[in-house]
Amino acid sequence: MFNFEPSKMNLMSYRSHHCGELRISDVGQKVVLSGWVQKGRDLGGMTFIDLRDRYGITQLVFNMDTDESLCKIARSLGREFVITASGEVTERSNKNPDRPTGEIEINVEDLTVVNPSKTPPFTIEEETDGGEELRMKYRYLDIRRDTIQKKLIFRSKLALETRKYLDSKNFIEVETPFLIKSTPEGARDFVVPSRMNKGEFYALPQSPQTFKQLLMVSGMERYFQIVKCFRDEDLRADRQPEFTQIDCEMAFVDREEVLDTFESLTKHLFRSTLNIELGDFPRLDYNQAIEKYGSDKPDLRFDMPIHNLNQTVKDSGFVVFDSAEYVGGICVPGVADEYSNKDLKKLTEWVQRPQIGAKGLVYAKFQTDGSIKSSVGKFFNDDQLLEWLDRAEGSKGDLLLILAGDKDNSLKQLGALRLEMGKRLGYLDSTEFKPLWVLDFPLLEWDEDTQRFYAMHHPFTAPAAEDIYKMDSPDREVLKNLKANAYDLVINGAEIGGGSIRIHDRKLQARNFKLLGFTAEEAEEQFGFLMGAFEYGAPPHGGIAFGFDRLCAVMNHQNSIRDFIAFPKNNMGRDLMINAPAPIDKEQLKDLGLDLKD
Ligand code: AMO
Repeated sequence: MFNFEPSKMNLMSYRSHHCGELRISDVGQKVVLSGWVQKGRDLGGMTFIDLRDRYGITQLVFNMDTDESLCKIARSLGREFVITASGEVTERSNKNPDRPTGEIEINVEDLTVVNPSKTPPFTIEEETDGGEELRMKYRYLDIRRDTIQKKLIFRSKLALETRKYLDSKNFIEVETPFLIKSTPEGARDFVVPSRMNKGEFYALPQSPQTFKQLLMVSGMERYFQIVKCFRDEDLRADRQPEFTQIDCEMAFVDREEVLDTFESLTKHLFRSTLNIELGDFPRLDYNQAIEKYGSDKPDLRFDMPIHNLNQTVKDSGFVVFDSAEYVGGICVPGVADEYSNKDLKKLTEWVQRPQIGAKGLVYAKFQTDGSIKSSVGKFFNDDQLLEWLDRAEGSKGDLLLILAGDKDNSLKQLGALRLEMGKRLGYLDSTEFKPLWVLDFPLLEWDEDTQRFYAMHHPFTAPAAEDIYKMDSPDREVLKNLKANAYDLVINGAEIGGGSIRIHDRKLQARNFKLLGFTAEEAEEQFGFLMGAFEYGAPPHGGIAFGFDRLCAVMNHQNSIRDFIAFPKNNMGRDLMINAPAPIDKEQLKDLGLDLKD
C-alpha cells in the first residue's frame, strides 16, 4: 500500500486554499489543496481526480507526458483516499457550469497520499446508494455527504442566530443539570443508577422546566438554554429519544410579551438564515383549530376547512347521520369529475384503516356538467345535496367528503382526511411557510383508561384567570373545559414550540396537583422544592420551548429530524454505529447495586 510521507508533509502545508474557492481569476497561481478523492477518471494520457473537502470540489489533472510516475500514483488512488496536491491553477477547456470551481483545474506537480481509505460501503454523493441502516452504521462517512453537511451547517447557523438574538434581548444562557429526579408526569424517563446511593436513580430531564422556573425565582429574569432533553417514548420521523430545545423563560411577563418575543425570534431566524420575511403570525384558539382543521397543529399552506353539517343533514331519516353526535365534511376543490367510483372506494378504505378509524365515508360529487352523484343519493335529493354544498362553501366541480360519528373522533378523522387530500392535490409540496399561534389550550385531558385527568401541557401551566374559580368544581365536564394560559407555535402543520404562563403561587399549584390526582403528600414529595420556592417571592413568569431539531427540519421542508442530528438513533432507539444500548458487565452491575439475584 501507500507509505505515509511525514517528512514531505513538513515541507508542504496541507492547504493554501480549500476545494470550493478557486475561480478563473486565480489562473496562474500555485496552490496546495487537501481533501478526499471523490472520484477519478483515467483518459489514457490524462488522469482527472475530483478532490472534495467541506467547501466544494476541485478537479485535479495529471498528465502522463509531463510526469508519468505522478500520473501512475493518481491512477491508483481509490475513493475517499486523503491526499494533498500542489500545482498551478489553469483554465479548463471543458468547463463545468454546475460547479462553482468548474472553470478551472489544478495541474498537479506534487502529490502526497496522506491516508489511504478502504472502499466505502456506499457512495459519498448527494444521492447515495446506502440504505438507512448502513448509513447510520457508518454515520461518519454519511456526514461526508454534502446534503448532510449542509444540514449540520444550517443547524450550527441557526443556533448561533438564536444566541445572538436572545443575547440582544438580555436573555442569559444558564446550564441546568442532566442528572435529576424522576417524576411520573409526561413521557417516560430515562434513568441512571447511582453508584454512591445504591438502589436510587437519577432521571435525565425531559425538559429543564422546573429549573427554569426556579431561575425565575432566583431573579435571573430572562433565561435561555439550547439544551438536550431526553424522553423514552415511541419514536417517529419527528421524534428522537434525545433531542434539543431552545428553552426560554421570562419573569414579569404576560402572554402577549412572550408571544411577541418569540414571534420576533422566529422572524429573525427565518430572515438571518433563509432571507425570508415572515408576516405577522395569525392566531387560532384551540377550539377553532379543532373545529376548523381537526388538529391542534393545522397546516395552513392550504385551506379546505371542515364544515359542521349537523344543522343541514340531520333529521332526514338517514340513520347514520341522525344517530351521530356530529356530521362534518370537507369540500375538495375541482376533483369531482376525476374521482371515479373506484377511487372513492379506495378513499373509503383509507379512512377505515385502523390508523384513521372512520366507520365509512359519505361523498357527493358535484360534477362540472351539473349532475350530482352521491353515495347517499337514495336518501337525499339533488336540492338537499346542493344545500350541503352551499353549507360547505363549495361550488360546481367539487367533491364533498363527509364523516359522521362522535365529535372528537370525527373531527380528528376529518383532519387526517383533509391532510391526505391536501397531499394528493400537491398542496403540501408548497415551499411556503405558514406559521401560526394556537392559543387557549384546555388545562386538563381526561384519560378513560386510568380514569383521571392529566395536564394537557404540564402541571405548572397556569389556568386562564377567569377559570380559576371553576377548578374546585366536582363536575367533570366543567373541568374538561377549563382553559390554560398555554400556547403552541405551529409551522406548516408541525408543532415547533409550546409554552405557557406558569403558576407562581403555592396554593394554586397545590390545587392544580389535586386536580391531577396527587395527594398532598405526593405533591410535596415530588414537587415540594418548587412549591417551597414559590413561598420566597416568586415573580409571575412564563416561557416557551422550541423543538430545535424540528425547527431545522421544517425550515428546510423536511419531515424527518434525523439528518439534522449528527448522530441520531433509529426507531428502536439504537445507535447503530456505537451499538448502544448494550449490556454492561457483572462488575459494573454489582458496583451499581444492580446485580439482581434470581
Ligand atoms: P414540549 O413538551 O411541548 O414543552 O416540548 C417543546 C417542543 O419540543 C419538541 N419536542 C421534540 N422534538 C423531537 N423529539 C421529541 N421526542 C420531542 N418532544 C418534544 C416539540 C415541542 O413543541 N417544558 C415545556 C416547554 C415550556 O412549557 O416552556 C416542554 O418541554 O417541537
